[in-house]
Amino acid sequence: MVIEPIINGVIARSAHPYGCQQAVRNQIDYVKKAAPIINGPKRVLILGASSGFGLASRIALTFGGSDADTLGVSFERGPSDKGIGTAGWYNNIFFRQEAERAGRIATNIVGDAFSPAVRRQVIDAIQADLGGQVDLVVYSLATGVRPKPEATNTAPDMWRSVIKTLGQPVTGPTLNLERDTMEMLTVGTASEQEAAETVKVMGGEDWTDWIACLADAGVLAPGCRTVAYSYVGSPLTYPIYHQGTLGQAKKHLHHSADEINQRLADIGGQAHVAVCKALVTKASVFIPAFAPYILALFKVMKAKGCHEGCIEQMQRMFATKFYPDNAVETDGERLIRMDDWELAQDVQREVAELMVQINENNFAELGDYAGYKQDFLQLNGFAYDEVDYSQPVSVNILTKMQP
Ligand code: NAI
Ligand code: NA
Repeated sequence: MVIEPIINGVIARSAHPYGCQQAVRNQIDYVKKAAPIINGPKRVLILGASSGFGLASRIALTFGGSDADTLGVSFERGPSDKGIGTAGWYNNIFFRQEAERAGRIATNIVGDAFSPAVRRQVIDAIQADLGGQVDLVVYSLATGVRPKPEATNTAPDMWRSVIKTLGQPVTGPTLNLERDTMEMLTVGTASEQEAAETVKVMGGEDWTDWIACLADAGVLAPGCRTVAYSYVGSPLTYPIYHQGTLGQAKKHLHHSADEINQRLADIGGQAHVAVCKALVTKASVFIPAFAPYILALFKVMKAKGCHEGCIEQMQRMFATKFYPDNAVETDGERLIRMDDWELAQDVQREVAELMVQINENNFAELGDYAGYKQDFLQLNGFAYDEVDYSQPVSVNILTKMQP
């Protein structure tokens, strides 16, 4: 079977297994050559390990100088009669292969990180595979839904996150990656219930619960750290992000870091939030009215030679802000600022100038649409020069591979 990219709007409906393998390999190659992580952790749990910042963290920590053994949790689908499976499924498989070849342990747990069953599985796997304790917990889940704790299989009940504003509605251009067009879209104001549910799904409550559960089980090593990822962005996008529902959830996440930090004090541990750069990931393409900003940002940062992807962000964070000496480098609010280059004055000034010129007719010339689209395709294993996409892949072989 030959696999073609299938895109519906901003949703990719297919993934290329060997392109995902290439993506993992390219990231490994990058961190092997980059400035190394010194004094890094040896045993790491990553929640949300199969794509985006979570996968990049895992690769950086295993191959970027720290030689970590890892346990990765993700929610992904393998091959079935519904299709070839998700990109994250293959990222897990090929990461584990590469890690094991390098003599590292890389255990994958595929299941719902919100469920008590997966929490138990994780504790068991830390005991069985990682010698009983971890030195770092990376919390990198991104999802639109979280089951309520009282939900059962017969009565599933979910909180749902929405991407809406909290003040006035915002109208702005959004990309359609299927048609290569930019279309105007109005984002409405969230109801109180929608805003509260978004905090439940994307705020820090589940992170806090996870750390409490791991601490109670005694699987956090003395000095254990934990980090979760956030976005603040530029005043240019505050109406849709920072001052919207997602921004409110992130503020909750930031408060949770302080609470968890206190809780970890008795084992000499620490909790931090890292504020990252705007990037194309499976989660971020859904943010409406964000397109002109990110197209201008990529154009400006690439021209200045300071553009980064997930892997560059994570390697730089662990190598220069998290582990070089014992003090984590933060701003006055205890946040690790990986958006430092994005928010640099000259970058923001040029982005602001470019953004106002971008419209539905010229976005591909003025903005970095080609780069954005390539990143989007590569998330699912497409658009790699090294892969021959005309070659059929064997579903039989893929079905035998286990995460
Ligand atoms: P992603 O969509 O690439 O990764 C999400 C991960 O969570 C995947 O491994 C997925 O399998 C896992 N996951 C989702 N639901 C799950 C569940 N129920 N159980 C187990 N695993 C589950 O997302 P991305 O972009 O890497 O986001 C990670 C964090 O980084 C989020 O907090 C996001 O807000 C933040 N961030 C993202 C930025 C961006 O531009 N993409 C910028 C700054 C922060
Ligand atoms: Na992730």
